[in-house]
Amino acid sequence: MKIFNRRVIAYAPGKCILLGEHAVVYGYPAIAVGISLYSQCRISKVDSNRIELNLIDFKKKFESNNIDNLISLLKKQFPQLARGLQIFSDLVDEQIKDISIGISSSLLSGSGLGSSASIAVAFASAFNEFYGLSLDKTKISDIAYEMEKMVHGTPSGIDNTTCTFGNIIYFKNKKFEMLRIPSDLKLLITYTGIHHRTSDAINKIRKLRENNLELIDRILSDIGFLVERAKNVIQNNELEKLGELMNINQGLLAALGVSNSVISVINQIALNNGAFGSKLTGAGLGGCVVSLGKDVLNIAKVLSDNGFQNFILDIENRGAWVEHE
Ligand code: MEV
Repeated sequence: MKIFNRRVIAYAPGKCILLGEHAVVYGYPAIAVGISLYSQCRISKVDSNRIELNLIDFKKKFESNNIDNLISLLKKQFPQLARGLQIFSDLVDEQIKDISIGISSSLLSGSGLGSSASIAVAFASAFNEFYGLSLDKTKISDIAYEMEKMVHGTPSGIDNTTCTFGNIIYFKNKKFEMLRIPSDLKLLITYTGIHHRTSDAINKIRKLRENNLELIDRILSDIGFLVERAKNVIQNNELEKLGELMNINQGLLAALGVSNSVISVINQIALNNGAFGSKLTGAGLGGCVVSLGKDVLNIAKVLSDNGFQNFILDIENRGAWVEHE
């Protein structure tokens, strides 16, 4: 078998959607950034005649001497990884064996920060490098999208794109462009403490739309409209205006039914303490809130005093990358 590297480790950032989540599923634009929290996937050559998969955060290990068998072992609990292994077992010339795969992430799952997409991108990048497949980033992102479909049904593609390319991106209908990162942009991310499932939030909006088609389509279109505005505001480095648009977006997301009282409390604390803007990020119904402001350190302190775990993050502009050990 053509193995080019004995040991590789791939990293992929998480993502934070600044504006446009949910509407992006219906073809409207959204803006997201790669964040400085990462998932990693390490692949090493072993002489055990087996394939091992170690899910470090879950404290779970799967192994088999046959790739197809390993794929069926994973299918029920980790369908996304089963799909990834299937894709690479089709891409690699010979049978995949004699490897140990280790996956971990500093992104909390169900927190709206793209943990599953980030893991999928790290996984695809590690396999690409280990087997010398020379796939470009667009192909890595496409594979991660195929993996994501196993957990989210019909994702827009913004999560895998942002976790692959990082930076600040304007995304619409599976196409994207990179924007200029505003100077002094620090993201304050606050965790609601509520684990959510993206598919629940997507289904909630789908149902609401079925019952109120015209009304919900207007709201989705308004979100699209404000994202277009935000694109210009970002290019002009106008953070206060960006905050204002985020607040309007939060109101529209609440109208779609994906906000909740904890998100509102966090938003209020942030805004009362000088945030320019504050809104849920990702699917909603829990997960995280993103806030922008001049003095995010002070806002972070007040949120911590009120018992809310939070982090101040930078934008990750490398996207996914690979190292050899
Ligand atoms: C989830 O991170 C973002 C959603 O817009 C879903 C998607 O875009 O696939 C809620």
